[in-house]
Amino acid sequence: MDAILGKPQPDWDPRSDTVLADQIKAYDAMRRRCPVAYSDYLGWSLFRHADVVRALDDHHTFSNAVSRHLSVPSGMDPPQHTAYRRLIERHFEPTRVAAFEPLCRTISADLATALERNTEIDLVARFARLLAVKIQCAFLGWPASLHEPLLRWVRKNHEATLAGDTARMAAIALEFDGYIADLLETRRAAGAAAPDDITTDLLRESVGDRPLTHEEIVSILRNWTVGELGTITACVGILCHYLAEHPQLQQQLREQHHLLPAAIDEILRMRAPLISNRRVTTAPVEIGGRTIPAGERITLMWASANRDEAVFGDPDEFRLDRDPAQNLLYGRGIHICPGAQLARLELRVVIEELLKQTRQIALIPGRQPTAALYPASGFSELPMKIS
Ligand code: HEM
Repeated sequence: MDAILGKPQPDWDPRSDTVLADQIKAYDAMRRRCPVAYSDYLGWSLFRHADVVRALDDHHTFSNAVSRHLSVPSGMDPPQHTAYRRLIERHFEPTRVAAFEPLCRTISADLATALERNTEIDLVARFARLLAVKIQCAFLGWPASLHEPLLRWVRKNHEATLAGDTARMAAIALEFDGYIADLLETRRAAGAAAPDDITTDLLRESVGDRPLTHEEIVSILRNWTVGELGTITACVGILCHYLAEHPQLQQQLREQHHLLPAAIDEILRMRAPLISNRRVTTAPVEIGGRTIPAGERITLMWASANRDEAVFGDPDEFRLDRDPAQNLLYGRGIHICPGAQLARLELRVVIEELLKQTRQIALIPGRQPTAALYPASGFSELPMKIS
């Protein structure tokens, strides 16, 4: 119930043990019980597909300027967002993404070959996390010496976000900036001899009539890193777990690789790798029967909207013939994921390689996976057996 004055009464607690124990089930229940729900931690969470789409399509009322820290381009609104977005999209053009396939395949194949066979392995630690950091660094032209620091950084960033510790989050962002500042410095010093990669390209980019500032470059790279590392790790865990739970589908995909793109998008619709993103209202809005004043925090719950029975019927029914436009996996509207084609390529290639090099990907009876905690999704530990 809304309070007359001041903050509304919370409708739920996103960090309660019950919610964190099974995020997707808890969000399903919220979508049915209280589809626009207030909590101190997340502000107003939108659980229904229609409400999330409405917020995405009305970027004037639902602004991305959620933080006072620079965040290029995700924390920006038009017209500022438009200029930076154009610049960023150039780095994810289809030819550049396609050119990455051979290297992505080699990394995936090497990691799949190195997996121990016929014994228990933790697929997240031994495969998913390593894969995400290796392909991220390969795409950006970053050295292998950054793999370990980046893995530690992502973990710390998640812990601070879950704790809602903004001072710590700011300190962790600064730590990232240190790694990147070193990389940029080396490239600036090398001048024309700098390696021909995306990171060097960014140093030469302009927005309007001036070069990007150091802070802007660091922010863009931080956004890509956050965008990629956590989500790709989550995706690989979710996909392997689902294929192990559904051996018939696993067999079908082994024989028909061309079904993989649609199958991957559909599995990740049901089991979200990215739980939510934020907005802030710029004017009062009526949504889902609630009145939300201007200046309120909004959380778009991808993990719920993509399972809305009003759009998808039974949310757990795996179908290859769904309308891709309804799937909000990579968002929609002006902030739609610029890395979507890269992510799709990486996931297709890695699952292809894993299927090519194995006969079976299986769960281990009696060994339960450990779910990752918000804001992460997927698994933090996934015991599996590969043969
Ligand atoms: C499976 C992996 C991925 C998923 C599920 C995913 C999902 C999303 C979603 C839902 C959004 C929209 C956020 C919003 O509306 O607030 C988004 C935005 C974004 N993603 Fe991704 N993403 C993935 C991979 C990547 C990769 C590989 C990159 C880059 C290397 C990337 C970079 C970004 C950036 C920079 C934005 C902000 C765009 C803007 O505000 O205009 N993402 N992503």
